[in-house]
Amino acid sequence: METVIGNDIEKAAWWLLQNEVVAIPTETVYGLAANALNDEAVLKIFKAKNRPHFNPLIVHTYSWQQLQSYVTHIPDEAQAIAAAFCPGPITFLLPRNTNIPDLVTAGHPKVAIRIPAHPLTLSLLQKLPFPLAAPSANRFGYVSPTTAAHVYQGLQGFIPYILDGGPANIGLESTIIDFENDEIILRRQGGIAAEAISELLGKPILERTHASDHPVAPGQLKSHYATQTPLFIGLHHLAMQQHAGKKMVLLEFGPSAIAGNFVRFNLSPVGNLDEAARNLFAMMRNADEAGADLIIVNPVPNAGLGAAINDRLQRAAHFNKQ
Ligand code: TXA
Ligand code: MG
Repeated sequence: METVIGNDIEKAAWWLLQNEVVAIPTETVYGLAANALNDEAVLKIFKAKNRPHFNPLIVHTYSWQQLQSYVTHIPDEAQAIAAAFCPGPITFLLPRNTNIPDLVTAGHPKVAIRIPAHPLTLSLLQKLPFPLAAPSANRFGYVSPTTAAHVYQGLQGFIPYILDGGPANIGLESTIIDFENDEIILRRQGGIAAEAISELLGKPILERTHASDHPVAPGQLKSHYATQTPLFIGLHHLAMQQHAGKKMVLLEFGPSAIAGNFVRFNLSPVGNLDEAARNLFAMMRNADEAGADLIIVNPVPNAGLGAAINDRLQRAAHFNKQ
């Protein structure tokens, strides 16, 4: 199958109406999208992605009103969060309506649903008579794509069209939140910091994002978002000595702390976490392509998007890969 890259929403819509899979831009990462209401279309996503299991997918809508036709209940707090952050990098786990197929939720009683903040994709969604199911547009387990070229690298030949909407603005997947009784539960760190949500609601959010081998959400797999080159956390002199003689690539944040003649990528030379989030996945790919024996990176400060960045680095780390 020939894979075309372009910015024509008519073409993207045409393929989606044939129940084919199309890569779409969002503010977080590119998505691998298909008709969320059609089993045959959804199956093609799993096939293109090479996912080992039928993991549940996020459903994308263009408005809060459209979203409401796919869920049976919306807690007041979800409403408040939506008013503050939608469209934006936040996904809600809400009781699903019967129009959402089992395949999309992997049998779960809740559907993950969000409104992406990207003008091209919002216009595309408005043209379609169905919402779009979409995981990140990478082959299973690899780093998520933040440009059309990243998508092409991984999925060329497997999908007919990549809608190019430029580099992703946020660069990290959406934050996933769940509602149980009166509690708000963080299921995945992402593009909206947990602090911003608890500040808005004036109450704490419970974190249940622990990595495991048998997660509810594959984004919670201990090893995920992984580079092929082993990635080590701990960019300090001791770690560097330990790996002496090996070819290293450094992934830095802020002013450089290590001297020497290394290949380096800096997530944000001025130490800005939003910029680091935007650069993270592209620089992980660059580091991976540098032909080194290992990648060494420091955790970033844990504030704001830093928590989500560190989460992705942990899951990409070598000690979690087996
Ligand atoms: O920013 C994003 O969320 C991107 C863009 C494309 O929207 N999408 C994304 O999808 O990151 P994916 O499939 O890579 O990750 C979705 C996460 C997975 O960890 C999945 O298990 C979880 O959401 N999830 C989806 N539906 C769920 C459900 N019904 N119950 C629990 N977890 C769910
Ligand atoms: Mg993913």
